[in-house]
Amino acid sequence: MQSPDISVLDALHRHAKSIPALTQLFEEHPQRSQLYCAQLGSVYIDFSKQRIDQHGFDLLYQRAQELDLAGKISALFAGKKVNASENRAALHPLLRTRESAVPPALADYAASMRSAHEDMRKICAALHHGHAESVGLVQARDVVNIGIGGSDLGPRLVCEALSQRYKTNVRVHFMTNVDAHASQELLSRLDPAQTLFIIASKSFSTQETRLNAVLARRWIAQALAARGQEASELSRHFLAISSNVQAAVDFGISADHVLPMSDTVGGRFSLWSTVGLSAAIAIGYEHFEALLAGAALADQHYQHQPLRSNIIVQLALLEYWNRNMLGHASRAVIPYDDRLARLPEFLQQLEMESNGKGVGCGGESLIGETAPVVWGGLGTNVQHAIFQAIHQGTQVVPVDFIGVINPDHPYRENHDALLANMLGQGAALLRGKSFAEAYAESGLQLDAQARTALARAREFSGNRPSTSVLLDRLTPEALGCFIAMLEHKVHALSVLWQVNAFDQWGVELGKTLANAVLPALQGELSAVGALDTSTQALLQKVHTVRL
Ligand code: F6P
Repeated sequence: MQSPDISVLDALHRHAKSIPALTQLFEEHPQRSQLYCAQLGSVYIDFSKQRIDQHGFDLLYQRAQELDLAGKISALFAGKKVNASENRAALHPLLRTRESAVPPALADYAASMRSAHEDMRKICAALHHGHAESVGLVQARDVVNIGIGGSDLGPRLVCEALSQRYKTNVRVHFMTNVDAHASQELLSRLDPAQTLFIIASKSFSTQETRLNAVLARRWIAQALAARGQEASELSRHFLAISSNVQAAVDFGISADHVLPMSDTVGGRFSLWSTVGLSAAIAIGYEHFEALLAGAALADQHYQHQPLRSNIIVQLALLEYWNRNMLGHASRAVIPYDDRLARLPEFLQQLEMESNGKGVGCGGESLIGETAPVVWGGLGTNVQHAIFQAIHQGTQVVPVDFIGVINPDHPYRENHDALLANMLGQGAALLRGKSFAEAYAESGLQLDAQARTALARAREFSGNRPSTSVLLDRLTPEALGCFIAMLEHKVHALSVLWQVNAFDQWGVELGKTLANAVLPALQGELSAVGALDTSTQALLQKVHTVRL
């Protein structure tokens, strides 16, 4: 226990300066992997390769108690207005709460969410069983989700993760960026007569999504005209998902084709809502329900497990320790399964849009750093790209390895190699290679100076932290549980960093200035003078070269 006259934070920083190296922690407690691991559903997590010990965890638990993390968790699930700047609750857990467990105060919200889920189920059934006309839709072979950020990343991650194993008769695609190259290429492969568009936008004001929706509507209208069909047929090709139903109707979507979403569900937390419709269409509604059930398991754990045996809290405390005590400025997320290739990008929004903040919930200055830069890529591919820096760079980058034990293909030798690489990389980051080992390997024919130089280049510091996650199999339950664990880790970290995880004012200024530049790009130069001279010069360059 630290002396009463220093704060827990000071004690944490002091401990970070004195805690032994990772290899020493393993030497002192070889069986630490049996202590620092957890199983939640079919998700196994080994965090023993993190540079932490019991005293460090004790201090971290004290810090969590100082900040009333348990109370903040209760407030989240009780539907309190945890999103202070927007005066809203954050009700994404309610989307996967069974009816009998809904707090009475949230009954109305839960009822509307259940109703929206029922709309999703009906649309899936109609498309999958050939009676799309019963819900006023075209019998689509292809569905295109038009959306960006949380209106794209979550459903896309689920689709890419699960649609190989859980196929339906409908192919799902994603139109995201305002760059029309991707849209042009996608539409060139589709038949407008059999294509349904889902315009997913919580605000229904996102520039990229609206422009892509206009492009899609023009594409369908032209095809209808070419076939001599009535323009009224257009509505059968469009659904919208939004918390701004009127804006969707004003855009031209028929009111009975707009699926609502609650404004209490943040975009990056919305895949469980109607925003997940494209995913449900891709994998089947029963598997979407299994995804929700997996997330509910994580909710139960986060909400009811005491802090000291709460794996979600422990993951958050480790991130806080790495970021704020050990000073690691980034974290790499490396899924060793092609179907999870989208996970780093999804977590970039979930973590950096939630906790990449600079002031506290009440506008106060913060103590220390907040969200690390989250990045990563697909294993084994990134072993041939970024692992040089991960192993020998001057910055220590904690790594999250995510693997799947049982594949959904018959190629055992490939999967053995994949898992061997994942486990081997974590072992190498821990163990490193000493100078003596490197020297012994280096060319005997070299003179002493050259041999020493080569040995130094082949030396590995080791003692580089990682967490390893293993899913039994990539199922909806496992994926839902894992994603919800990461959502709640973000919430716990927001409490530790004392920021609001549920707003995103930081995305507004760039959009505002883009809207100021747009008229200048389109020839209206009156406002150019208000822009900085670099931007003016760039505009001039565009006008000079543009055809
Ligand atoms: O990036 C800002 C943001 O508002 C995200 O939070 C959101 O997921 C995305 O843009 C799309 O917003 P909308 O769903 O309202 O189109």
